[in-house]
Amino acid sequence: MSLHINRAVAEARTNIALVKYWGKRNEALNLPAVGSISLTLDGLATRTEVRFDPSLAADTLNLNGTPAAGKPLTRVMRLLDLVRAASGRTGHAAVTSSNNFPTAAGLASSASAFAALALAATRAAGLSLDGAALSNLARRGSGSAARSIFGGFVEMKAGTQEDGGDSIAAPLATWDVRMVVGITGEGMKATLSTDGMRHTAETSPYYRAWVESHPADLAAGRAAIVHRDLQALGEVAERSCLSMHGSALAARPGILYWSGATVDAFHMIRALRSDGVGVWFTNDAGPHVKALCAPADAPRVEKALASVHGVVRTICCPPGAGAVVIEEGA
Ligand code: PMV
Repeated sequence: MSLHINRAVAEARTNIALVKYWGKRNEALNLPAVGSISLTLDGLATRTEVRFDPSLAADTLNLNGTPAAGKPLTRVMRLLDLVRAASGRTGHAAVTSSNNFPTAAGLASSASAFAALALAATRAAGLSLDGAALSNLARRGSGSAARSIFGGFVEMKAGTQEDGGDSIAAPLATWDVRMVVGITGEGMKATLSTDGMRHTAETSPYYRAWVESHPADLAAGRAAIVHRDLQALGEVAERSCLSMHGSALAARPGILYWSGATVDAFHMIRALRSDGVGVWFTNDAGPHVKALCAPADAPRVEKALASVHGVVRTICCPPGAGAVVIEEGA
């Protein structure tokens, strides 16, 4: 056994899908049923250190300063196993990960977390993967993590290969827009996205319609980004969000991720739009609301969102960069 201790630290930012992914074509390999288009955000990042250490009896995980066990540790161990298999590295690893935003707020952190882990773990194991291979690996941890490998606007392909070799993300463009995140009050326990997707696919009469309507939204999203057409992108983002939730709401029993504040924020964003502000909403597997707008309109959007009863905090995010190595070595 090698007595080599190798470590690497990587950072990745979260991303928000504008054309959503909901549903898997293969749950074991975490292959999405549909593609997606996202924006990587500056300001919401995970920094992760992976240290392969032959003296460890097992993999360990420290999350935001606290030792973690159970499901989070299992998910990390599964990714480490893939890295060990690819690199021939045999020892266990100590993983230390922290978010620069409050995890308790329930903002999706799996995207930034698994992108940072994929990069740090491969580098610590002596591998140097290209973006596509890293994206493929990050996807095994979380579907949305495949997108956080890259910065700016990113498209994730559903792919058709059985082994998922073509289920990878790639950068589309950089374009200076803003995503204003409205954190709504906590207290709601969300259905985990994997469980919500499975339940929707198995029981919702609208799931097939969601999958069938999806390619047109992807094409519209892609074209809007190519033409830097914020209105077209905003319109597809709102309808993709509502369609995704529509399919989940029609599951039996229906999955309802929204709180009252979520819906009030949607109305506020539409009222602003009626006043001539170019702003559109999106929302994921939780109650928080994200508003897409031009940089010049962001202060007004942030103020309006903050005034919604139940919105406890707002964060204004410019586009962010892809995952980066911060440190590496013994
Ligand atoms: O990355 P996951 O498996 O947690 O799924 C993400 C699902 C949504 O956030 C609702 C949509 C998306 O494309 O990010």
